[in-house]
Amino acid sequence: MKKVLLVGASKGIGKALAQIMSESYELISISRSSLDDLDNVSVHYSCDILKDDLPDIEKLDGLVYCPGSINLKPFTRLSETDFKEDFEINVLGAVKVIQKYQKALKNGSDSSVVLFSTVAVKMGMPFHASIAVAKAGVEALVKSLGAELSPGIRFNAIAPTITDTSLAEKILRNDAMKEKMRERHPMKSYLEPNDVAEMAEFLISDKSKKISGQVFELDCGIVTFKI
Ligand SMILES: NC(=O)c1ccc[n+]([C@@H]2O[C@H](COP(=O)([O-])OP(=O)(O)OC[C@H]3O[C@@H](n4cnc5c(N)ncnc54)[C@H](OP(=O)(O)O)[C@@H]3O)[C@@H](O)[C@H]2O)c1
Repeated sequence: MKKVLLVGASKGIGKALAQIMSESYELISISRSSLDDLDNVSVHYSCDILKDDLPDIEKLDGLVYCPGSINLKPFTRLSETDFKEDFEINVLGAVKVIQKYQKALKNGSDSSVVLFSTVAVKMGMPFHASIAVAKAGVEALVKSLGAELSPGIRFNAIAPTITDTSLAEKILRNDAMKEKMRERHPMKSYLEPNDVAEMAEFLISDKSKKISGQVFELDCGIVTFKI
């Protein structure tokens, strides 16, 4: 059974992923809070990836890094601290985790790493300057590390549009806002955590073993279609 580390399985996309993967994978989870459902993982570590030492793991076949941010403000209100914090959780946190477990992933077979970007990297969106800059860094990491650590470890990212998780709760806070968000998308829908988790599971699995260095837009048409 492949062994996969999920950073951020306590909520949102990572939680949906733990549910999907629990029967076919041995899962290890890291997040600040504990998990509601420990049935899905073999071991959980409560730690803050930005502050704490990370647990030692000898061998891994996959790693999914879920922590991220949605920090939307007009450019004049974005402080240097906002830019630094977005960069820290989205890029430096992923760097810390990948560096810590690079050897473990090398010890695994056909290892795969999945990171998360956003549609706002490809499509210019007002108020997204800080998060788009940070996620562009995530996409660059996928390309650079995909090249540097190939063959042996694959790197891919998923760039979702708005997904109904606690991270997006302000944007989807009532039925009117949800309806408006559906209407903005050419496919008249936004994403549920499971939609994104299914793609992440594919990218971790051997079904995608010839795919690396790619960014997959799950965009409900918002980047791809103009209709
Ligand atoms: N939701 C969207 O609309 C959307 C759209 C585009 C891109 N994305 C990206 O998709 C990814 C997943 O998003 P999501 O909506 O599932 O996020 P989420 O609901 O906020 O879940 C994030 C997970 O990461 C963990 N986490 C956060 N900070 C951590 C830290 N410092 N140390 C350890 N664990 C930490 C959280 O657990 P604890 O809080 O317990 O630590 C949680 O389990 C993110 O990178 C996000 O930027 C999301």
